[in-house]
Amino acid sequence: MDFELKSLSPEQAAALAVDALLVLVPDALSTTPLAGALATLTSEAASKGDLETGLGKTLSCYRVPGIRASRVVLVRAGNGSGSAVRKAVTAGLASLKQPNIKQLGLVLSLLDDSNDAVSAAVQACADASYTYTTTKPSAKARALQEVVVAVADASAVQAAFDTGKAMVTGVEFAKEWANRPANHATPSMLADAARKLGRKPSIKTEVLGPKEVAALGMGAFMSVARGSVEPLRFIVMHYTGASKSSAPVVLVGKGITFDTGGISIKPAPEMDEMKYDMGGAASVLGTFAALAELQPAINVVGLIPSCENMPDGQAVKPGDVVTSMSGQTIEILNTDAEGRLILCDALTYAARFKPRSVVDIATLTGACVIALGAVRSGLFSAHDEIAAALQQAGESAMDPCWRMPLDDEYAEGLKSNFADMGNVAGRAGGSITAAKFLQKFTADLPWAHLDIAGTAWKSGAAKGSTGRPVPLLLQYLLDEAARPAPVAFAEPKKASKRARKA
Ligand code: BES
Ligand code: MN
Ligand code: ZN
Repeated sequence: MDFELKSLSPEQAAALAVDALLVLVPDALSTTPLAGALATLTSEAASKGDLETGLGKTLSCYRVPGIRASRVVLVRAGNGSGSAVRKAVTAGLASLKQPNIKQLGLVLSLLDDSNDAVSAAVQACADASYTYTTTKPSAKARALQEVVVAVADASAVQAAFDTGKAMVTGVEFAKEWANRPANHATPSMLADAARKLGRKPSIKTEVLGPKEVAALGMGAFMSVARGSVEPLRFIVMHYTGASKSSAPVVLVGKGITFDTGGISIKPAPEMDEMKYDMGGAASVLGTFAALAELQPAINVVGLIPSCENMPDGQAVKPGDVVTSMSGQTIEILNTDAEGRLILCDALTYAARFKPRSVVDIATLTGACVIALGAVRSGLFSAHDEIAAALQQAGESAMDPCWRMPLDDEYAEGLKSNFADMGNVAGRAGGSITAAKFLQKFTADLPWAHLDIAGTAWKSGAAKGSTGRPVPLLLQYLLDEAARPAPVAFAEPKKASKRARKA
């Protein structure tokens, strides 16, 4: 799908050669009369009440004299904020018979400040027209091919428009891989997708297999992969947009391509949804696809430990003790708490990049779904600055998260008589105890954890990946790129000594 940004007055938008116009009408419609058929239609429909007030209310018109597109939908866009525009575009597109629409004019020219609106509109447009076809060739492919986004002043919103488009690229990449069933998205296939991304500008991909991972001593990661005939993959990606000496942000994505639970096997209902247990990995891949498009001035490392969690004669058993790459031993009390086992070794590996921050993204716990539902991802960090930056990025990208506590008392239940720790605590506070487990592997890394178990996909009739939290991650990286380059994380002590001497 192609998006094009243009400075167009309503009068100029009326002349667009497209199949349909979707016109966003704010509650506070300017009273200064604008010229042309579209402005007249809009202001009369609003003032006479045919276009009701109320976010998402629509009025559909056909063959309006003076407007070139045969279909015109007016839609109420409330106060014109990003979230209002997203709802309005979704409602407007729902009222259009999409198979008929190949070219759409999205008219934002009546909104006051369209910075948030442009990005929201572009993303809502992509969301509403997305269709998954890879293993369902009979599904109607996306009809919408071209969207002209009309704004009052294109140069004022160009950057927001570019960001919105890159978010679409990243979200759709993530959706594609997350939606693929596990037999069409094995660890090796994910690695191939990452290798392919590695051909894009500024990206390099390296893939480690079972031998290399064994040599690194990733005993926790290896223990999860044991029960499957699919070999594990450890994907390492580099996006280099800044000087080599600039400390990178490291993103770590959980890449369990199918989670049966292992010997602690899951019940049958909805187990198919465990193909989404690589949603964290998909979001890292999607973010790299977006970075390749935007080329921001920042360095980013992507780490994806990927394997299946299966039960068989070789599978790890409850009570088995394994040694992680950090040297800490783990008693695997529940083989279904596998995400933290693959992530802990990847987090240990992350330290070698002397990162400015490390963010892991994982469909980690059912408990997080209970805590926060499908609206906000769980955010865990002992570092207020990183937590605030991620929270802020989530708000501005409309991909929100919510900070959860990490008090040390939550780690009590992880104690084990047979290893340095167990891999589960009790049922209570399950998303927090999982985060406390991960924290034991982050020593003094500037680390944050996003539990996306509730936000990465939708269940039920609309079952499908959401592509979250690609918008949050990309926004965070763009915000980081705009900040002055930080002191390399490796040297905080030196820096403070110098500060004391001075
Ligand atoms: N992938 C699941 C988490 C999950 C479950 C996400 C349901 C979304 C929906 C994870 O590997 C898991 O099984 N976690 C267990 C942990 C428990 C054994 C401590 C869980 O949440 O039940
Ligand atoms: Mn599990
Ligand atoms: Zn899992």
